[in-house]
Amino acid sequence: MEKLPLVALISGRGSNLKAIIDTPNPLFEIRAVISNRYHAKGLAHAKQADIATEIIDHDLFNSRLEFDHALKNCINQYQAKLVILAGFMRILSPDFVNYYQGRLLNIHPSLLPAFKGLNTHKRALEAGVKEHGASVHFVTADLDAGPIIIQARVAVLADDNEASLSQRVLKQEHRIYPQSIQWFAQNRLRLEGQYAVLDDKPLIFNNTD
Ligand code: GRF
Repeated sequence: MEKLPLVALISGRGSNLKAIIDTPNPLFEIRAVISNRYHAKGLAHAKQADIATEIIDHDLFNSRLEFDHALKNCINQYQAKLVILAGFMRILSPDFVNYYQGRLLNIHPSLLPAFKGLNTHKRALEAGVKEHGASVHFVTADLDAGPIIIQARVAVLADDNEASLSQRVLKQEHRIYPQSIQWFAQNRLRLEGQYAVLDDKPLIFNNTD
């Protein structure tokens, strides 16, 4: 079977990218890793695995639309059937998101819809929640609000700080992101309206804001 061609977008450390690169028996092929930052540490993981790397520096563009256009051209050169955001710290325009609808995934370090946006671990600790975690979702034009595919839960411990909590969540991220990508590569996962559908069943998450 032909492996699913995918492109990953990163901005920083790239630990999720590394976990995806290290997936046992991958049903996908990472054709390229694109970073909007020259110094993204994650680029080293790609190079080590002989994956093509590209830098598209957002500072060189006059507008978000121009940057997104360049990004799209670059992705499309690699004939990607799936685009994954792995710590990509730019908001993408609705045009871009709609163009890749149903084949654009993101991982977010919270139990969505709780704690959309940045500093999720700090905010979870401040809010005193008992459970925290991570979510993989299809990307839609609403930030961090696309249909959820899988979540991993971790208990918040009495002596947790941002570092300890984020470390436990990250460990789960490294499990659920490769899992979601494998499902997509097996043609078991798709976006249908407001839901992610796995094996023909809508995935329903009863979390509240
Ligand atoms: C992760 O916490 C991910 O959930 C969020 O950005 C962080 C990226 O970490 N979207 P890394 O670059 O994969 O190590």
